[in-house]
Parts: sequence; structure tokens; C-alpha cells
Amino acid sequence: MDLTYRPRRLRRTPSIREMVREYSLNPSDFIYPLFVHEGNDVEPIGAMPGAYRWTIDRLMGEVSRAWDLGIRSVVLFPKIDDELKTEDGAECFNEDGLIPRAIRRLKEELPEMTVMTDVALDPYSCDGHDGIVSSEGIVLNDETILNLCRQAVVQAEAGADLIGPSDMMDGRVGAIREALDEEGFEHVGIISYTAKYASAYYGPFREALDSAPREDGGKPIPKNKSTYQMDPANGREAITEAQLDEQEGADILMVKPGLAYLDIIHRLRNESELPIAAYNVSGEYAMVKAASAKGWIDEKAIVLETLLSFKRAGADLILTYHACDAASWLSES
Ligand code: PBG
Repeated sequence: MDLTYRPRRLRRTPSIREMVREYSLNPSDFIYPLFVHEGNDVEPIGAMPGAYRWTIDRLMGEVSRAWDLGIRSVVLFPKIDDELKTEDGAECFNEDGLIPRAIRRLKEELPEMTVMTDVALDPYSCDGHDGIVSSEGIVLNDETILNLCRQAVVQAEAGADLIGPSDMMDGRVGAIREALDEEGFEHVGIISYTAKYASAYYGPFREALDSAPREDGGKPIPKNKSTYQMDPANGREAITEAQLDEQEGADILMVKPGLAYLDIIHRLRNESELPIAAYNVSGEYAMVKAASAKGWIDEKAIVLETLLSFKRAGADLILTYHACDAASWLSES
């Protein structure tokens, strides 16, 4: 055949392929999510094989393992004891609470590790919502924000580097920015869950934290988070959220979940000059783990291909429970 262009020329050898490769993964792209609890034992999480509820002591070992693999950032999520859960989630701004203690300890032992936090009431709420639920069953926006600001300031005081509001209340990024600045934490960044969808992919995470919406008998509780998290049918709305977060002072924008929302990552990449993060969430992790346990897929190849797809879509950073495995696979090749 008389062909001018033969794209296969650049696929012929491994070194040529490497030369023309557009994207790559590095351990420093990853933010490693970790669960902590008050218990004395490290507990496995049913739908997330390889993920655990760590005690603060044992958490330190896992974080240093991640550091040694080249991971430079972790995000902490608390499993709070039921008796500490209230309607207003006030435990979230207890200075001696689980998360502030874990952050302080981590910053003592490994100060260079970047510590990101999650700001939302759901782990602390007896109703299992990210905001305060009114007696009529409405998730209250402005009242919730006051508590989120207190939570953010307590996390910053404990030593957090990046505050991650995941609650999807309107105006929370600006309010948290102001609260942090007022308390002298202008150096603490905000990684906003900008486009967070009302997704079924969070199922295993809610099991890990025992944080799903639940009826307590007293008042109507919305069964899902659709009045604040975004409708999976909407794309343009993510741009509106991104513009608002930027105006309100977010430093990094996040899309969540990741894999079913690669188009949203791409759209935000084109809309904004800020770094973009993708959250490869618990349900995505669970599916890969289940299929590879069955021997139906090649876990290493699937994970690395998936993580690369986030980079190609436009993400700079990836929150992933596969972080340690992926980092060690990357160092093999
Ligand atoms: C809490 C929060 C959730 C996740 C991160 N922060 C769950 C939710 O919104 O219900 C999900 C993470 C995952 O599924 O891996 N606001």
C-alpha cells in the first residue's frame, strides 16, 4: 500500500513508544486515603480488601510505608463511635477528637507528609448526612457551614496542610477560606470537592465509616444526598461549581467519582488553570478488587491503566486506595 502516514512506526519498539508517550504516572501524583478509628485493633473493611480501619498507632506505620514508596500526601477519614454522633455533628470540631489527634501525631512523626482532611458532618452525624438535617428533613445549608468552618479551623490547628470540603453546601469554600484566614491559617490550602456527584460508587466507603444516611425515628431523614450532591446527568453544572469554587478561593478542584466522570475531569481541565484532582472512589476500588480476586482481570494492569486514564483526562492528582500498590508497581518497571 502507498501510505504516507503509518502511525505504527511510532509503536514499533519499546524505546520509541516511551519517547512519544504523552502521560505518565508518578507516586507523587497520588493522595492516599486512610481510615482511622478508636479501636485497639486494625480492622479490615469488607468491601475494600486491602483497606483497613487503622488505630492511630498503626496508622503511622502505614503512612511511613507510603512515604517510602514515594507517596507525598494522605487524606484521613474517621470512623466515629456511635455515642459521639449528634444531629449537629459537634464532635467534628472537638480539638481532642480522633482526626485532630491523628493529624498531630502524623505531623510529629513525618512532618513532610502532606496531610489532607475531609470536611463534612456525615461521619459525626447521627443522621448520616453531610449537613444538619432540620426537623422537616431538610439538609440546612447556612447553619451547616458554621460547623464546617469550625471543623476546618480545628484541622488546621492540628497541622493539616490541605482542607477538603466534601459536603457540597453552597458557599462553603469561601466561608472556610475566611475562617482559616481569620485564625491565621492563610497558608493552609483548600482542595475542594468541586464536582461531587450523588453516586452509588460511595457504597463501600459508607460501610467503612458506618456513615450512610439513616432514620433515627425522630424526624424524616432523606434517604440519599441528591439535594446537595450533583445529579449524575449533569455536565455543565460542574463548570458552574468550578467557577464558584475558584471565586471563593479554592486552590485545587476535585472531581468525584473519577472513572465514570472522566468527561467532567476533562471539562474542568479546559475551564480552569488550577490543579485538578480525581477521586478514584471506594466503589471503583471494590469492583477491581472483586474481579481480580476471581481471577477475571489482571489487577496490576487494570489499576495502572485506570490511573493513567485520569491523567490523560486532565487530572494532576489522584486520590486512590490503590496508591501503595500502584507506587510499588511503578518502581518495578
Ligand atoms: C463524606 C465523603 C464520602 C466520600 C468521601 N467523603 C461519602 C459520601 O459523600 O457519602 C466517598 C469516598 C469514597 O467512596 O471512596 N462526605
